[in-house]
Amino acid sequence: MRCTVFGTGYLGATHAACMAELGHDVLGVDIDPGKVAKLSAGEVPFYEPGLSDVLKRNLDAGRLRFTTSYDEAAAFADLHFLGVGTPQKKGEYGADLRHVHSVVDTLVPSLDRPSVIVGKSTVPVGTAAELGNRAATLARTDVEVVWNPEFLREGFAVEDTLRPDRLVVGIDPNRPGRAEALLRELYADLIDNEVPFLLTDLATAELVKVSANAFLATKISFINAVSEVCEATGADVTQLADALGYDARIGRRFLNAGLGFGGGCLPKDIRAFMARAGELGADHALTFLREVDNINMRRRTKMVELATAAVGGSLLGANVAVLGAAFKPDSDDVRDSPALNVAGMIQLHGAVVSVFDPKALENSRRVFPTLNYATSVEEACDRADVVLVLTEWAEFVALRPADLEPVVRGKSIIDGRNCLRPEVWRSAGWTYRGLGRP
Ligand code: UDX
Repeated sequence: MRCTVFGTGYLGATHAACMAELGHDVLGVDIDPGKVAKLSAGEVPFYEPGLSDVLKRNLDAGRLRFTTSYDEAAAFADLHFLGVGTPQKKGEYGADLRHVHSVVDTLVPSLDRPSVIVGKSTVPVGTAAELGNRAATLARTDVEVVWNPEFLREGFAVEDTLRPDRLVVGIDPNRPGRAEALLRELYADLIDNEVPFLLTDLATAELVKVSANAFLATKISFINAVSEVCEATGADVTQLADALGYDARIGRRFLNAGLGFGGGCLPKDIRAFMARAGELGADHALTFLREVDNINMRRRTKMVELATAAVGGSLLGANVAVLGAAFKPDSDDVRDSPALNVAGMIQLHGAVVSVFDPKALENSRRVFPTLNYATSVEEACDRADVVLVLTEWAEFVALRPADLEPVVRGKSIIDGRNCLRPEVWRSAGWTYRGLGRP
């Protein structure tokens, strides 16, 4: 089959490459000529394990191309995916839909055959119906808008796209048939591999996505709230989470207490969900999400307090090594990164901060140019009074006390992700602190 994918960020570029991997002819579209040039040359403009191989393989096979031309895209296929960003609006909680609107407004008038636009971006409930109406007023032909939300995680984007837990497809019940048939054909290999294909109305499909992310955020904040109680009693939240996780109704995943959630999705999605509920007159339904957000942000402040205590009560003039800048390992994404946020706060308290991350340094320098960046763990830890592990990259998890002892000034480490073994550090004479651990 043929399809286009608008937007070549984490979502769009992965979707385009993976649809080509399934054997389809795919045209990726982006208004940024720099991204299009890079992708066309087989270069992924961000770090995502495994994506580069899929991209190159499908470029070489001639199944995948990239362009900036909407006219070319309109002529190329009848099935158009929308994978552009929906960030948080500046100065308010709602999602900024300008990129979604701009694709629809530019693409739809160019379409001259009956076409289906398939939204994948995370949007406030009601957006798909609104875009359908908008398309109907702009179109020269029949243009249907359906929603097929994407659940991929950064770091596992290819795997999650080719082996998703489920496919959710929201279609206007008054227009059954064509869009469902096209998507069933496109995803035939996945459906044959027993990926559930769930057909819903538009609003349900949009809500599945935001409620999934709200649930995950709630699960993380739940364990982080319990972690605060652990801190007050001397209990160990990691043991507690293990014990909770054996209950199949609860499950161990997303119960890792620590610095909390960040990234381009969870924080902005819970805020946009609250904002949308308010617009719909149902704001009382989601007030608990404000607390989920508060608990999450409190963990960052707690980290600053622990660092302050570790250097004797004042950060002024202290040397602080920060290991990790990405919002999670195996990603170079620093959007709403707890690690960078904490590094910035510590610097504001007058500390000399040195940050190292294996993949996210370039993005960090761009969004936070005033921090000091090191090119290795050793350089970041040079003369450090305290070492903070804020992203659980495998290379940090593998660190041993002896690796850092030749360079640090103080044998003090704070584990913001509860990813280290306390006994290993303590037995080497270090002061180890974790979040929610005695
Ligand atoms: C998330 C959803 O998981 C995905 O389904 C959706 O499509 C997009 O948003 P992603 O943002 O890539 O994916 O990251 P995820 O792996 O969910 O982690 C989010 C944040 O939560 C990270 O900062 C991570 O460190 C944190 N986290 C995760 C915890 O603090 N504890 C946990 O137990 C799990």
